[in-house]
Amino acid sequence: MQQRTIGGREVSAIGLGGMPMSIEGRPDADRSIATIHAAVNAGVTFIDTADAYHRDAAEVGHNEELIARALRSHGDADHVLVATKGGHLRPGDGTWTQNGDPTYIKEAAKASAQRLGVDSIGLYQFHRPDPAVPYADSVGAVRDLLDEGVIQMAGISNANVEQIDQAQEILGGRLVSVQNQFSPAFRSSQGELEHCAELGIAFLPWSPLGGIANAKDLSGRHGAFQEVADAVGASVYQVTLAWELALAPTVIPIPGASRPESIRDSAGAAELTLTAEQVAWLSA
Ligand SMILES: NC(=O)c1ccc[n+]([C@@H]2O[C@H](COP(=O)([O-])OP(=O)(O)OC[C@H]3O[C@@H](n4cnc5c(N)ncnc54)[C@H](OP(=O)(O)O)[C@@H]3O)[C@@H](O)[C@H]2O)c1
Repeated sequence: MQQRTIGGREVSAIGLGGMPMSIEGRPDADRSIATIHAAVNAGVTFIDTADAYHRDAAEVGHNEELIARALRSHGDADHVLVATKGGHLRPGDGTWTQNGDPTYIKEAAKASAQRLGVDSIGLYQFHRPDPAVPYADSVGAVRDLLDEGVIQMAGISNANVEQIDQAQEILGGRLVSVQNQFSPAFRSSQGELEHCAELGIAFLPWSPLGGIANAKDLSGRHGAFQEVADAVGASVYQVTLAWELALAPTVIPIPGASRPESIRDSAGAAELTLTAEQVAWLSA
């Protein structure tokens, strides 16, 4: 599988997003574990999760525990980089809330490390800016976690260009990743994608296929992607991810999956090279 880097560490160009295995509509644990095993067997070495990927408030960290369990039972997955996030919460009524309080972030990261079964988290990302807390304070907590060795690498999510620059400064140049929404249907993070490419920071498109509810509509709603898929003999999902990979060498999409077939197919996108004309047409 094609490799890219996060903070100098080599990872597969296509990652796996864990959310569909833990929120509403999730499969049983056996199918989720089979999906994570299929990802590793397909060469995926980067998995994204968050403490907030769960259904009700009593099961915070459901996805982190699932991923840790699956990687342990795989037997040959020590090389996989697991990235988790904190600062976003699900009270259990289907809504999402924020808590960017520094003390909370530090406690959340330590709880995530425990669930992941590691002394130090490979990559920890501040999930979403909290309007009630100065951004510098929340990112300052992530810097402290780095300094204390609770986390090995630091990232941010749902950040604009100004926040990327601010985080980079607060972290003393140690910001390694930015995770923002980006897909054929949602392109307003193009500016952050380009900014990360200039800075050499990994850009991780979330919901890269349009999201759990809309991924199946890719071919219908974005006809150009289906046309290219027909022309090159690939799935519309592979063409979408290959297009994202072609936008910059710093892009690492993290397609979600709850079925082994989905991630096996998505992983194939790393081997698909589109022509410059195809990329330009899909971008237009
Ligand atoms: N930072 C944030 O605020 C944030 C927000 C949302 C998501 N995320 C992260 O980004 C990840 C990806 O986003 P997402 O899961 O919301 O949406 P997505 O990746 O756009 O779509 C996921 C859905 O696409 C389907 N799919 C994936 N590959 C496929 C393939 N090759 N063929 C057919 N179907 C395929 C999966 O179906 P099956 O379920 O049937 O396998 C899955 O349910 C999440 O899992 C999460 O880790 C982060």
